[in-house]
Amino acid sequence: MSSLSKISRPIKNELEQFEDIFKSAMRSDVGIVDLVARYIIRQKGKKIRPILVLLSAKISGGITERTFRGANLVELLHTATLIHDDVVDNADKRRGIWSINAIFKNKVAVLMGDYLLSRGLMISVEGKDYDFLKVITEAVKRMSEGELLQIQKTRKLDIDEETYFKVISDKTASLLETCCLIGAMSTTDDSKCIEAMRQFGHSLGMAFQIRDDILDYEGTTNLIGKPVGGDIKEKKITLPLIYALNKVSKSEAARIKSVLKNGNDKTKVKEIIGFVKANNGIDYALEVSRSYSIQAKDALNIFPESEMKSSLINLIDFVTQREN
Ligand code: IPE
Ligand code: IPE
Ligand code: MG
Ligand code: MG
Repeated sequence: MSSLSKISRPIKNELEQFEDIFKSAMRSDVGIVDLVARYIIRQKGKKIRPILVLLSAKISGGITERTFRGANLVELLHTATLIHDDVVDNADKRRGIWSINAIFKNKVAVLMGDYLLSRGLMISVEGKDYDFLKVITEAVKRMSEGELLQIQKTRKLDIDEETYFKVISDKTASLLETCCLIGAMSTTDDSKCIEAMRQFGHSLGMAFQIRDDILDYEGTTNLIGKPVGGDIKEKKITLPLIYALNKVSKSEAARIKSVLKNGNDKTKVKEIIGFVKANNGIDYALEVSRSYSIQAKDALNIFPESEMKSSLINLIDFVTQREN
């Protein structure tokens, strides 16, 4: 399997440069902001979004100053949304260590998320990257809408496949799509190229979130990342469970939903995972994820062979096979 370090080989130096830019963007004169920022830097993320921006730019023409600002913008926004997401989901772990809300409490986490988002937007304003602002504000809107739709559906336990795809397209794929779009836009105005990268990012993003949802069923708790069953504890119904619920009788589906709603955490995680596995929910989700992977690969057809193209293809395999 491809590792992220192999995938980022064509942009190795630029990714190192990016790391410094990202760290300095978070710095603040306010002590508590700097304290939390230093903690965030210790919580090493995979940096998939800046890698996407850099590779998309390099395949579309070449990395420019604008590309770095774009990469900074998306990683700041991503970091902000994860901090907010952990408040929303009541999660006490992130990237293998304590989440910001677990250490500094919700108030600080919410405000720190706002701070990082506004830093990203400021950087685009200062660089006059108004085209980035147009696409990033659309993504922020879709991400919040996606999360809110998920909350609405979670309360009623009535999510169907179509709604699930809308939720993940908005809450997750929209940002990956934006990364590829910004990478391409930072260096070219060829609309065919920009559109191909947008389509690649969307399909990759869908496959990415489906993998995330599968990991909730079959991940191992001791790996860096999130513990198994987090979604089930939060009563979140994702693709493997949607499929399994559709396969059984109405009364059995109703019984499982009531376990999800009222069961105590320990027994319900076990029972729901068993139910999903017995009804091939995971195999089905893998199948869907494979079809998005193919769509992502096909979107790259317009590009000639290059090390960037190979890396983007390897990234599809990485996100669909990742363990965290
Ligand atoms: C996690 O994204 C959030 C989702 C959209 C599922 P990543 O897995 O890319 O997070 P980090 O940055 O590597 O922690
Ligand atoms: C993804 O949602 C987070 C965002 C898209 C903001 P989840 O709640 O499913 O992600 P993890 O699993 O906590 O990273
Ligand atoms: Mg979460
Ligand atoms: Mg969430």
